[in-house]
Formats: sequence, structure tokens, C-alpha cells
Amino acid sequence: MAVEYVTYQGIKFPPAYNSEQSLHFAHKEFQVQDDDVFNVTYPKSGTVWMIEILSLIRSGGDPAWNRTVLNSNRVPWFTTRLGLESALSYPRPRLLTCHLPVQLFPTSFFGSRAKVVYTLRNPKDVLVSYFYFSKMCSSYKDPESFKQFLQDFLSGDVPHGSWFDHVRGWMEMKGKENFFFITYEELQQDLRGSVRQLCQFLEQELDDGAINSVVENASFRAMKENKMCNSTLLPRDIMDQEKGTFLRKGICGDWKNHFTVAQSEAFDRIYQDRMGGLTEAFPWDS
Ligand code: A3P
Repeated sequence: MAVEYVTYQGIKFPPAYNSEQSLHFAHKEFQVQDDDVFNVTYPKSGTVWMIEILSLIRSGGDPAWNRTVLNSNRVPWFTTRLGLESALSYPRPRLLTCHLPVQLFPTSFFGSRAKVVYTLRNPKDVLVSYFYFSKMCSSYKDPESFKQFLQDFLSGDVPHGSWFDHVRGWMEMKGKENFFFITYEELQQDLRGSVRQLCQFLEQELDDGAINSVVENASFRAMKENKMCNSTLLPRDIMDQEKGTFLRKGICGDWKNHFTVAQSEAFDRIYQDRMGGLTEAFPWDS
């Protein structure tokens, strides 16, 4: 069946979960509370990983919540119709998640004391992960080819808009005390250290045993086994597990197995052009 994306303020969104009304509500009417914590990402950057980490930290390292409650009920997608219901009935303090670009984020957030954790990832790996995800998820258009998907990604003609605009937009928040950004690559390299930094940002003290439990239960292996976060409970008409696996490889640098040298060089030129002015140096820049 042909997929028709929902468009809100010039950005496309997958239709199964979003409507113009739900996005408008999230943007203009959603009441952010000072104790809200938002998990914000561009797709395929480690959203579900951070959901596990944040909920494990919230429960003091006890994995029971993560093992018994679906991730979307622990950390609701408040921009979606169902997620909003869950977010509105959720006891405070809330954990919330979305892929919104900063200009569509709830206006009531700005000026609040709510916190944002923004995770970003090497865009070449994002692209590869997004390519496979689009093939298995029915509310995304099945990419014609890798080459075509690469072009669409570079021109921002993909759901949730341009990676470059998303990251540039959110990086404007850098330095604000209620904004924390981290990369997928840092999580990979030092999950324990990343969890410690997150605890500090969230003002939640965890002892060594609790930190170990967060690290263990948020590992790729543990997440793959946990039906509450590995997407295997989603019906086939939402996510077709025969066409792929949501927790696919979970590595850095898989782009090298997909890009030709020419594609990588063309990507780098556009990356340089779009990101060159940023003072931030990301792990993949060196
Ligand atoms: P791959 O497709 O490269 O494997 P998102 O949650 O934003 O959709 O991102 C999904 C990507 O994060 C997938 O990447 C998935 O495997 C990876 N991921 C999820 N949990 C992970 C973990 N614990 N460790 C490493 N990668 C993880």
C-alpha cells in the first residue's frame, strides 16, 4: 500500500502514528512540566537505547520496569495520538520522547526547567540504519534503492526532515543548563561513563551496583532479548520482522559496508558545507 506522509510545517512525518492535529497539539498546546525529561533524537540515532538508559536510571537501576512495561509506555511518544494519551495520564515526573526538530518542540518547554537529552549519531550510520528501518516499517516508504535513499537523505526529503537541520537546530541549545547532548559513539565507547554523566545531569545519584545494572540492562545483548524494547511485539502490519530486525547491528561504522568511495566523498562535501560553521567536533569528525 502506498504510504502518504503527514506534513506539518514543511516536515514529513510517518502517518501511522502522527496526524497534523497531534503534531500541532504537541507543538502549541502540550503543557511541559518543570520535572519533565525529554529524550530527543533524529531517527536511528539511538532513541530506543536512550529510552532504556533513562528508564533504568529513573528506577535506580532496578530492571523490573524495563522488563515488564513496553518502552512506549515508559517513555511515551507524546507527538503521536496514542503516545499523547499515555503522556497525559502519566504520573509525574515524566519521561517523554520524540524526534521533533527544535522549531516544532513544545513552545511551553522554552522558559521551563524541563530537561532535554539529545543523542546524535554519525549521519552515515544513521542513513544506513534508516534505510533498513524504512524497508521493514510499514509507515515509511520502502526505499527504491540505497542510491536514491542517499539522495533523499542528503536533500532532507525523508520523514522528520533534514539530519543537518535537526542537529544544527538542537545544537543552538548547547550550553543551556537544561540541555545535555551525547553521541551514540560515546555511548558505545564508554557506556558506564555516559551513564554517570547522565545521572549528574538528571540529578539522580546511583551507587556503583545500580550503575552496573543500567550498563548491563541497556547493553545491545540484553535489549535484543527484552521484548519490552526489541519491537518484536509490534504487529506485522506495523513492523515486518521478516524484512529486518529493529535492533539490527548496533555498531559504529557500518556505513563503510554500504557507501562507495564516491558516495562517501560526496556526502563529506555536503556535510562540510552544512556543518562546517559549527564549533562542535563530533567523534566522527576526527
Ligand atoms: P542499527 O540499525 O545500526 O543496528 P533508534 O532507536 O533511534 O531507531 O536507533 C536504532 C539504532 O540504534 C539501531 O542501529 C539499533 O541497533 C541501535 N541500538 C539500539 N540499542 C542499542 C544498544 N544497546 N547498543 C548499540 N546500538 C543500539
